[in-house]
Amino acid sequence: MTGALGERTVHVDSDTDRPRENPMTDTTITATDADRALKARHRTMWGLGDYPDVADRLIAELGPRLVTAAGIRPGERVLDIAAGTGNVAVPAALAGADVVASDLTPELFVAGREFAARQGVALRWEEGDAEALPYEDDSFDVATSCVGIMFAPHHQTSADELVRVVRPGGRIALISWTPEGFVGDLFKTMKPYAPPPPPGAQPPPLWGDDEHVRALLGDRVADVETTRQTVRVSAFGSPEAFRTYWKVTYGPTIVAYRNVADDAERTAALDADIAGVAQRHDRGDGSMDWEYLLLTARVV
Ligand SMILES: C[S@@+](CC[C@H](N)C(=O)[O-])C[C@H]1O[C@@H](n2cnc3c(N)ncnc32)[C@H](O)[C@@H]1O
Repeated sequence: MTGALGERTVHVDSDTDRPRENPMTDTTITATDADRALKARHRTMWGLGDYPDVADRLIAELGPRLVTAAGIRPGERVLDIAAGTGNVAVPAALAGADVVASDLTPELFVAGREFAARQGVALRWEEGDAEALPYEDDSFDVATSCVGIMFAPHHQTSADELVRVVRPGGRIALISWTPEGFVGDLFKTMKPYAPPPPPGAQPPPLWGDDEHVRALLGDRVADVETTRQTVRVSAFGSPEAFRTYWKVTYGPTIVAYRNVADDAERTAALDADIAGVAQRHDRGDGSMDWEYLLLTARVV
């Protein structure tokens, strides 16, 4: 296997966004310059707003949960893919592992390094695309990703890379938002307002679908275990407060708003729809349970 993306042809079912098996009936795209442009847009998007605040205030507990689920031990070589500000990478280093935090958006490493310094741990921060990881085969004992790898657009490519860099007998542990949960609902709601994804780009929350993710990993892994869990988020007093926070803090939402900025009616509709997502998931006291799929597996 190779870590280089290079020239690649992807065959896509336009109804399901899933890769198709019969190229004769497919839309065919060649991922080269278009792919690089897409990644550049993604990098800009995740650098917008204040993602470090989202990681720190809303989902910080997911990192230690994933470290525990992965059973990370002192001395193990761990790669955290799409690590962001080190939500998993820093607790993995605290557990004594030798950690590389890899992400498409190195701008996030500034907050990550501050987080690591506060916790008194050292780890490596390295720019990398989940679809073309800059590491040799079998380089790591464990690879993790917390709501991260799911945002790389070509799911099979990033799944192949994930498996490639873990040694036989090593482990994979992932947390991915489910299509039915809060974040899946948010992305579905924003889709009509956001710039259309290029052909072949798949919806992130599919990684939270049990069948989809098992198919991506295939028979290259064993002992696959999945559970649906939730993280409780209580940071917002009202759906409107939630919307205001999201609008200025979260890159994908900022991009959706920018896309309709010159259309007051569509902006108002997006306002209403985002507040609606918060209303739908409100537990009655202003808090929400955001559902995710936790997957652990062993590489064979
Ligand atoms: C929702 S954040 C999650 C960050 C972190 N894992 C956490 O738990 O807070 C999604 C992350 O995926 C990264 N990302 C998006 N596309 C990527 C790609 N193709 N390769 C690597 N990282 C990517 C973004 O830069 C961002 O840091």
